[in-house]
Amino acid sequence: MKKSIKIVEVGARDGLQNESSMFTVNDRYQLIKKLSQTGLKNIEVGAFVSSKWVPQMEGSKKLVNRVLKDQSSGKLDKKVQFSALVPNVRGMQDALTTEISEIAIFGSCSESFSQKNINCSIDESFNRFYDVVQLAKKNKVRVRGYLSMSFGCPYEGKISQSKVVSLTEKMIAMGVQEVSIGDTIGVGTPKQVISLLRKMEKKVPLKKVAMHFHDTRGTALANVLASLQSGISVFDSSVAGLGGCPYAKGASGNLATEDLVYMLDGMGLKCGVDVDGLVEIHKWLRSKIDHPLPSHVGRSGRPGIPVL
Ligand code: HMG
Ligand code: MG
Repeated sequence: MKKSIKIVEVGARDGLQNESSMFTVNDRYQLIKKLSQTGLKNIEVGAFVSSKWVPQMEGSKKLVNRVLKDQSSGKLDKKVQFSALVPNVRGMQDALTTEISEIAIFGSCSESFSQKNINCSIDESFNRFYDVVQLAKKNKVRVRGYLSMSFGCPYEGKISQSKVVSLTEKMIAMGVQEVSIGDTIGVGTPKQVISLLRKMEKKVPLKKVAMHFHDTRGTALANVLASLQSGISVFDSSVAGLGGCPYAKGASGNLATEDLVYMLDGMGLKCGVDVDGLVEIHKWLRSKIDHPLPSHVGRSGRPGIPVL
């Protein structure tokens, strides 16, 4: 098991895209600033998507510009890698009007979800991604990739593990540096994780693979443990356990970053993130969101530091 773990914080994107409480660009900036002060070194800021499709992400360009400007003047930690989602060439062109140095394309292992989420087939989406990656390479922008519905789909049910592996290979062959395997609706269990990763490691170096668990059925941390034991060292998570995709029926929050960090700390694995800082952000979010936030550690605090 690797001793050092990378966390990709997706709260300001995955977390907010499914919230009915609308956050202003300034609120989103404040969230990102607070997150960057906890030691998180990889933070997703927003998405260059259509605001007709995801109104919560409107203003992402303004937000990215503000974040990068404040980073270059030293107001935000210079060591943080900020990134944003890009679905197509139009989104990439918008991204390239900023100084962003990492973007993420997002595909699906389910045809039905691909249609619902980005309005095209899987093949068509990969044609679009190819063009996006070419533009990224030309402009020296790092590319991450997502593959949604890797453990099951609300529209198609079971998803073939060999399809997940072959789409991962396809993204890597294109030039994607890290592929995040998404359990978009939180149906996966550790047995599935282990068998998928056994197939994956035969085709792809696991250092290029991240895991993205939603915690809909309470299996996310168990799936992280199974992933760690299978050789994974990159995990996506969202502060307070916010999250979900508006186009995935039944999708709810991501694995909470504070729950992940608490477990990693307890296992002696280093991620460099301050769990108490995350608990403070959880408290701040509670004042802005009109429903209970799902994370465990956010609600209970660390032992000896209760928050409620
Ligand atoms: P479309 O309607 O098929 O687009 O949407 P189109 O190419 O037909 O163009 C229609 C209009 O949209 C045009 O404008 C385009 O310019 C504009 P008009 O001429 O009508 O004025 N347009 C855009 N505007 C802004 N940004 C763009 C863009 N592209 C075209 N990039 C599209 C296709 C991909 C844009 C749309 O389906 C979309 O925005 N989808 C985003 C859905 C989304 O963000 N979902 C959540 C993220 S995925 C997720 O959460 C899963 C993940 O967390 C992993 C997991 O959990 O598994 C990553
Ligand atoms: Mg997600």
